[in-house]
Amino acid sequence: MAQKVTVPELRARKRSGPKLAVLTAYDATMARLLDAGGADVLLVGDSLGMVVQGHPNTLPVTLDEICYHGRAVARGATRAHVVGDMPFMSFQVSPERALDAAGRMIKEGGFESVKLEGGAPYLEHVRRMVTAGIPVMGHLGLLPQSVHSMGGFRVQGREEAAAERIVSDARQLEEAGAYAVVLEGIPSELARRVTESVAIPTIGIGAGPDCDGQVLVCYDFLGMYSDVRPKFVKRFAELGDAVIDATRRYVAEIRSSAFPGAEHSFGGTPKPKPLPEETGAKPVAEPNKPAYGPASDDPS
Ligand code: KIV
Repeated sequence: MAQKVTVPELRARKRSGPKLAVLTAYDATMARLLDAGGADVLLVGDSLGMVVQGHPNTLPVTLDEICYHGRAVARGATRAHVVGDMPFMSFQVSPERALDAAGRMIKEGGFESVKLEGGAPYLEHVRRMVTAGIPVMGHLGLLPQSVHSMGGFRVQGREEAAAERIVSDARQLEEAGAYAVVLEGIPSELARRVTESVAIPTIGIGAGPDCDGQVLVCYDFLGMYSDVRPKFVKRFAELGDAVIDATRRYVAEIRSSAFPGAEHSFGGTPKPKPLPEETGAKPVAEPNKPAYGPASDDPS
């Protein structure tokens, strides 16, 4: 079985390369596929509120929901590091609440690290978690949990004062012990500045080519989510169209009785000795023992 990607390895990749390839994942099957494709990190992002739950933003996602999806992804990821987003209001209130929530994510969600949005106001929160042995990834620039105060999903850090604040926040997050930082929705030049200012890897999304790695939402890069189409999304497949096309053919074949054919049906000749008929289902892969994380949904 492949060796798990670890936090020390992720930190070292800033110097040694290759660049970090990060994708979001929300379930075991997708995690298994993205892991097989070589993704280094799978992020159970609170973007699941939009692409899985159908909300207009990430704010309604709960700690229980993140933990539920975390357990599923942890079962599917044999090599990729699994990091979980701290949901809105699970950490903002106090360092104690943050530590409590992060602890639950590690114990109940199968996560190997946590990510939180924001800089200077949350340094003590980060310190507490890191002291407790919980690796923390930061997130600066466009902060989806602050969608209302930003007035929408808007590029951040265009003015020099705001850009300096982002550089300073990244340095302070590093000092507080964060092992990496996501840079979302900022000009490429600013992302390059941040990347050169810190010794921890920067992971960009809508932040240009000079970060130490990149992250995309899996439903975006596979062409399955069209409600929002930011400029920075590159579709590496058009699975949305493929799903619609497959569904149309399925509907047509049912209506024309072309499906199910004989090859998908069980024999009609009665057997002399009635045995329970086999379905023909066989395991296609070894049971995937999680390399890390709880084996069941039962948190006890
Ligand atoms: O929630 C999420 O998926 C994220 C990534 C877009 C970085 O935070």
